[in-house]
Amino acid sequence: MLYLTLPLAYLLGSLPMAILVARVLGLPDPRTTGSRNPGATNVLRYGGKAAAALTLAGDVLKAVIPVGLARGLDADPLIVAGCGLLAFLGHLYPVFFGFKGGKGVATALGVWLVIAPAVAGLLIATWVVVAAVFRYSSLSALVAALAAPLYVWWLAPIDAYVLLSLLMSALLVWRHRTNIQKLATGQESRIGASRSG
Ligand code: G3P
Repeated sequence: MLYLTLPLAYLLGSLPMAILVARVLGLPDPRTTGSRNPGATNVLRYGGKAAAALTLAGDVLKAVIPVGLARGLDADPLIVAGCGLLAFLGHLYPVFFGFKGGKGVATALGVWLVIAPAVAGLLIATWVVVAAVFRYSSLSALVAALAAPLYVWWLAPIDAYVLLSLLMSALLVWRHRTNIQKLATGQESRIGASRSG
């Protein structure tokens, strides 16, 4: 049962909520509009706040469920971290959608909400402060991703979790490489703008 949480994590992670929410609500496929990223930020650009909130909640929940299950079964931190990583990898490389997924911000948040709520709280605070000052979702995610290993090392100093934070943060930065280019050239769209720059 315990080891079933690992494939479950990857399968749940492989459900990109932006695509599913768009289908259910009759909105354009997020892969064809805006930044073309299947994530809450892109849904917000053309689908509105409710659709974006649903996307965000779904992408968080698909990590919370398997990681919470592993924790509830009293799994070793390595298994719990493995579940988190697989849910995250599912979102980035979804088996149901040609292995072309999103950037993983909400799913990573879901992982930390279960493993270390204090870390999740600090990550949310970091995201909100950077977003309030600069109005870029991608920059907020990048700063939070860079801070995450420090927060984990401070508040949940278990080797498996520190390693998980390093892996997820490295992948998060890699998945934001186009955003980094746009930020550097002043082409990134700000939160509230209706289309990607
Ligand atoms: O969570 C993804 C966000 O950091 C960037 O999204 O659509 O601007 O590429 P997007």
